[in-house]
Amino acid sequence: MSRLFTPPAASQITPEAIYLNRRQLILGASGLAAAAVWPGAIAAPALSGKASRYSTTETRNSYEQITSYNNYYEFGTDKDEPAKNAHTLKPRPWTVGVEGECESPKTFDIEKLLKLAPLEERVYRLRCVEGWSMVIPWVGFELGALLRQVKPTSKAKFVEFTTLADAEQMPGISSRVLDWPYTEGLRIDEAMHPLTLLALGLYGKLLPNQNGAPIRLVVPWKYGFKSAKSIVRIRLVEKQPATAWNKAAPQEYGFYSNVNPAVDHPRWSQANERRIGEFLRRKTLPYNGYGELVASLYRGMDLKRFY
Ligand code: MTE
Repeated sequence: MSRLFTPPAASQITPEAIYLNRRQLILGASGLAAAAVWPGAIAAPALSGKASRYSTTETRNSYEQITSYNNYYEFGTDKDEPAKNAHTLKPRPWTVGVEGECESPKTFDIEKLLKLAPLEERVYRLRCVEGWSMVIPWVGFELGALLRQVKPTSKAKFVEFTTLADAEQMPGISSRVLDWPYTEGLRIDEAMHPLTLLALGLYGKLLPNQNGAPIRLVVPWKYGFKSAKSIVRIRLVEKQPATAWNKAAPQEYGFYSNVNPAVDHPRWSQANERRIGEFLRRKTLPYNGYGELVASLYRGMDLKRFY
């Protein structure tokens, strides 16, 4: 089988042997056929990845919590609606186009990504801009590994993510709550940062539809809305791209969206958060607790202005 991903540079963590022998997807040919008609989360086939040094050791939220309390407006704006409605999403067949300012644009088939991408389990905190948080064991690979495949040019200063917008599969699209498709963006150094993940699974199973099947972004130091679900296109661009939430309410949702307890949302404080399943609120940490790894990306920037 040809390699989709070139092995990481010697300076990077994974020795070649481990890279090649890493987890195998526990999904036979019959499993692939069944994937086309998944009823959603619960029947998701198994998936695993090697443990990551980037994982938090904090208590994980349960599979039930992670898959039943969701934001996925294409399936409704109430927290329980994505779990109820997202069974109509068809995560197969699926491709992700990676294009724009790069030497070798490519279209990646999700099945090939599943088999060939260097998968890891990453247990990350997710802090939603609404004031709740969870700890989620994702299975995925670094976005940077995918971007390196297409050889970004020097003009690639930002990355734009576009997600599926199909009224036939997504009942929420009929509401104009956002300007569909849902888009998000990162600066190129944020996109290439090793913490930035493309997730294909969680809790050792393929992503349930309500969590963004078959592939979603996870940027753990930013508010959860940066983590675009069900991505169909990734575009390298020269100018800062427009983002769905910024278009909807520019004074409330900026491009950067770093978790910053010192910058209140205009309608509420961001100083603390409710971990789903806990009673007392806890203090929100700058960069959602990932400051040691990412604060240097923003040196010299006024983060009250670039919220
Ligand atoms: N992606 C799409 N396409 N549509 C959405 O409505 N909601 C965002 C983000 N990605 C959203 C999306 C928000 S606000 C959050 S907090 C996270 O998904 C929630 O991810 P989770 O449901 O897996 O916890």
